[in-house]
Amino acid sequence: MRSEIEKEYLLKAVDASNRIFFIISPDFQILATNRYTKEKHGFNIVGKKCHQLLCEWESPGENCPAKQVLKSDRPVLSERPILREKENTLSNQKWSTCRYSYPIFSEDKIDAVAVLEFDTPSREEMEEDLRRANSLLKNLILSSVDGVIAADMTGKILIFNDAAVEISGYSAKEALDSLDIRDFYQGDTARDIMRRLRSDDYGGKGKLKSFQVDVIKKNGDIIPIRLNASIVYKGDKEVASIGFFHDLREELRIKGELEKTQIQLLQAEKMSSLGKLSAGVAHQLNNPLGGITLYTKFLLEDYDLEQSAKDDLNRILQEAERCRDTVKELLEFARQTSHLVKLHNLNEAISRTMFLLENQTLFQNISIEKKLSESLPLVHVDIQQMNHVFMNIILNAAQAMDGKGHLRLSTGLSEDGNKVIIEISDTGPGIPDHVIKHIFEPFFTTKEEGKGTGLGLSMVYSIVQDHGGVITVKSCVGEGTTFRIELPLEYQNRGGTECEE
Ligand SMILES: Nc1ncnc2c1ncn2[C@@H]1O[C@H](COP(=O)(O)OP(=O)(O)O)[C@@H](O)[C@H]1O
Ligand SMILES: [Mg+2]
Repeated sequence: MRSEIEKEYLLKAVDASNRIFFIISPDFQILATNRYTKEKHGFNIVGKKCHQLLCEWESPGENCPAKQVLKSDRPVLSERPILREKENTLSNQKWSTCRYSYPIFSEDKIDAVAVLEFDTPSREEMEEDLRRANSLLKNLILSSVDGVIAADMTGKILIFNDAAVEISGYSAKEALDSLDIRDFYQGDTARDIMRRLRSDDYGGKGKLKSFQVDVIKKNGDIIPIRLNASIVYKGDKEVASIGFFHDLREELRIKGELEKTQIQLLQAEKMSSLGKLSAGVAHQLNNPLGGITLYTKFLLEDYDLEQSAKDDLNRILQEAERCRDTVKELLEFARQTSHLVKLHNLNEAISRTMFLLENQTLFQNISIEKKLSESLPLVHVDIQQMNHVFMNIILNAAQAMDGKGHLRLSTGLSEDGNKVIIEISDTGPGIPDHVIKHIFEPFFTTKEEGKGTGLGLSMVYSIVQDHGGVITVKSCVGEGTTFRIELPLEYQNRGGTECEE
């Protein structure tokens, strides 16, 4: 038996709950109700027939839960939208009420039925929530930048997002209708992936993390991929696998480019130290060459020699002088000065460059035509840099002609008389369109490794630009290439170099 105090608290608890709660007799009369229900209805409902009050029906309907409880002796859970507020209408009501009706027995017989109502989201709303969650999930998967491919355990594709389409070249329809997940891999790779997925060693059981693998595109191309994958379980059963495919092409390209750049920088550094070294060597050669010239002259003047000996000594003198000239030009060429802009004769700069180059084996079978304007005005240039410009273009031409052909160097004045025009043409193979648009880019080269740094023309371009000039190229495949440089007579400082009048 319950104590009075226990009964009192039970009653208080029922009253404290803010849920509709009432008890009805087997003839559907409301026997008791909690405070909340009373407040909700605004009047005392005890003693009223529940079907009249709640449904405005004369007798309980067929689906009346209390009737069902009385019939079955069991609790009944029913869902029934009700008007909680007078002004509410069924159609705009978002929440429905669940009614839990249960029997209260008194010695095996139902004495009364207790009815408890509580709110639950309506089915439509739950469906709407589910739909929203599903479409969010679908959008997430579809818009993922990584390819997302899911397949069931037979290999049939279940999910194939836009990025997967882009990576693989298959349309989503093709993939979903007729592809097998194994079609994306070479040989036994798919099986190997499943083996790794099932193992504990690659990111946990059912998971595979950051696995680099090749996939086969529709057109047969091989694409390097970083794969993150997992098995989808239902209970203990494997039902599907899902993989996130990250295309590594761009990453690997950048990595390769970086490595190439490092090698090229190293090469460029080597070239520049070689330049410095040869300037040093040239300098050191100057003194002994001076000695050879001097003492040969002494021999010629001081001794009464036979003609043949004199001829030999003259020959020595000539050769030594040639050496001295070479050294002088080399020194002039590689002179380490700060960028200094002065008035210079570009014909001389071109001739100097040719002088250094023409005796090299590469130039032996190249005919050289110089059409240098005699009236070429002096131009404000950093002659050091101009030497580099001519050297690079001429060397490229000789390399393109592979040592055989015709090299034409010309200078002149533009029609308006404001610019000096330098043209360097070769009869090499020409530059195809897809190459020509890149030739001024740093590190762009079509030459094999070790032969080209791809820095020459980019340097040329920036030097010409620094001088306020313009460089253009015209090329015809199979006929040859012409580089044209226009330099303004008035120096326009673009590169922060000093100008000395
Ligand atoms: N006269 C030319 N004829 C044909 N191709 C040329 C010529 N000059 C330059 N090129 C192309 O331009 C590319 C870039 O030249 P450059 O910047 O000097 O670098 P590199 O000579 O180290 O390759 C060359 O690799 C070559 O493909
Ligand atoms: Mg070059």
